[in-house]
Amino acid sequence: MQIIHHLADMTRWSNEVIAGGKALALVPTMGYFHAGHLSLMRQAGRLADHVVVSLFVNSLQFGPREDLSRYPRDLQRDARLAENEKVDILFVPTSEEMYAPDFNTRVRVNGITDTLCGQQRPTHFEGVTTVVAKLFNIIKPHCAVFGQKDFQQLSVIRKMVRELNWDIEIFAHPIVREEDGLAMSSRNTYLSSEERSKALCLNKAIQHAKARFADGLDDSDLLISEIRDIISANSGVNIDYISVVDKDTLSDKEVIDSQSVLALAIKVGGTRLIDNCFMGSDSQISN
Ligand code: PAJ
Repeated sequence: MQIIHHLADMTRWSNEVIAGGKALALVPTMGYFHAGHLSLMRQAGRLADHVVVSLFVNSLQFGPREDLSRYPRDLQRDARLAENEKVDILFVPTSEEMYAPDFNTRVRVNGITDTLCGQQRPTHFEGVTTVVAKLFNIIKPHCAVFGQKDFQQLSVIRKMVRELNWDIEIFAHPIVREEDGLAMSSRNTYLSSEERSKALCLNKAIQHAKARFADGLDDSDLLISEIRDIISANSGVNIDYISVVDKDTLSDKEVIDSQSVLALAIKVGGTRLIDNCFMGSDSQISN
């Protein structure tokens, strides 16, 4: 595995691969790898001849009071972990090269970025789409893999790719969880052990929702109020949103059906955590 820092070197490498008729898969990340990231890398390896993993803590997607400065970083550890997967290139661009001092372009998907996480984080998704657009142009992948853990991000990226006519296939990877059900996240490292056990209310809420839907409950207001009770039973946990939305439009659903997604965002102490589940079978959300 090679580590590339400069944008021009990355593009040169990609051009050679493409000229040789080989397929290229990209896994964009912000690093501090966990088993979820590694699983995306393995899926990418099954999809293409070569895999590029980008590692860039993207300042543009953090709000002014968010955790940019304390976001966990450990390039040596990440390089070791990626080396064990079928990764050809770990692309680690510098902020200086990605964002020149006068950088002032944004790629923005309207509408579906106003709900869910977009309500509390109004500039977050334009930061994501701007950096992903740059990565697509620098790396020129044939396909890219994103996690369902960030369900809204995945929908926003799919919409951007469709509407900007990029010939890049977007693959969804199922949520990878710890043994006790907590969705893996680089931000889990912020949690104290007490906070970590409180965070399990997310998975408890998801299990409850699945069981209630299987029993025939289709009233989303009722389900949301039951979930609010489950989460509120934990002191120090604040609810950002509990929503049942359509998997494509992300608009609220009054009646839950197999196309609905339960999306949750909470704050445990100072740490914001998200989770979601597809009310139909999980495989339906992929692609
Ligand atoms: P990051 O949080 O590092 O996540 C990188 C990729 O890993 C994303 O596609 C995310 O959905 C996926 N992922 C994270 N945790 C996962 C889990 N438990 N199971 C499955 N997939 C998981 O998401 C970002 O970075 C950034 O917004 C990025 C797309 C790189 C743009 O900066």
